[in-house]
Amino acid sequence: MNLSATRTVRELAIEIPNATRTFEKLGIDYCCGGGKTLSDACLHAHIPVDDVLRALEQGGSFTPATQAALPDFNGALGNLIEHIVTTHHVYVKQEIPRLQQLLHKVVSVHGKSHPELGRIQQTFHEMSAELNSHMMKEEHILFPHIAALENAVNSGRPKPKPVFGTVSNPVHMMELEHDSAGAALKSISELSSNYTPPEGACFSYKTLYTALKEFESDLHQHIHLENNILFPRAIAMESATEVSV
Ligand SMILES: [Fe+2]
Ligand SMILES: [Fe+2]
Repeated sequence: MNLSATRTVRELAIEIPNATRTFEKLGIDYCCGGGKTLSDACLHAHIPVDDVLRALEQGGSFTPATQAALPDFNGALGNLIEHIVTTHHVYVKQEIPRLQQLLHKVVSVHGKSHPELGRIQQTFHEMSAELNSHMMKEEHILFPHIAALENAVNSGRPKPKPVFGTVSNPVHMMELEHDSAGAALKSISELSSNYTPPEGACFSYKTLYTALKEFESDLHQHIHLENNILFPRAIAMESATEVSV
């Protein structure tokens, strides 16, 4: 493992699977901002780079539990897609209605004394609508195309000709939508003072902030798998395929 501050956050996140947990804990953006070098990302997050390097060194080894939970980044793209859909898409679809209910409850009781709650609710509502439509496009258009592309390459058949021209086009659109969801959650994190409930907050208030924090963390991991692993590999596979009719 080549651990250096001049390498990009994306490279380190791919090579050291536990790195994403360390980045999440320290507030280092490894999904949408993964193209930055580690030293730039640390500057941006106001964290000494040596502390991050040390944390990566200590947390870089696998444990059986984390190894089992993560897909093989170099394995079949079909398996990675299945992991993304069954782990992250299912989670997002389950959490959105639960969080909306919780938000409704907490805003109706505490919204007057905590006006930021209304803004959090509005931001979450808009982001949820975008995310639902985003995942539908991935599940019905982009992911089936990537799986078909992989099948064609593996069996030596001509690659499929998508209506969207090249896989880079929907990938670019998905990345823009990831940026938008990431920005919405960053704004929710700021509005909630990094998910810190006020003194004496009720159980629902605390549950809401814990669940929102987990939602953000899961989305970072989800976007990392797509932006940094699935999409670049699909683009490379498309351009490396020579058979075309
Ligand atoms: Fe996704
Ligand atoms: Fe996505």
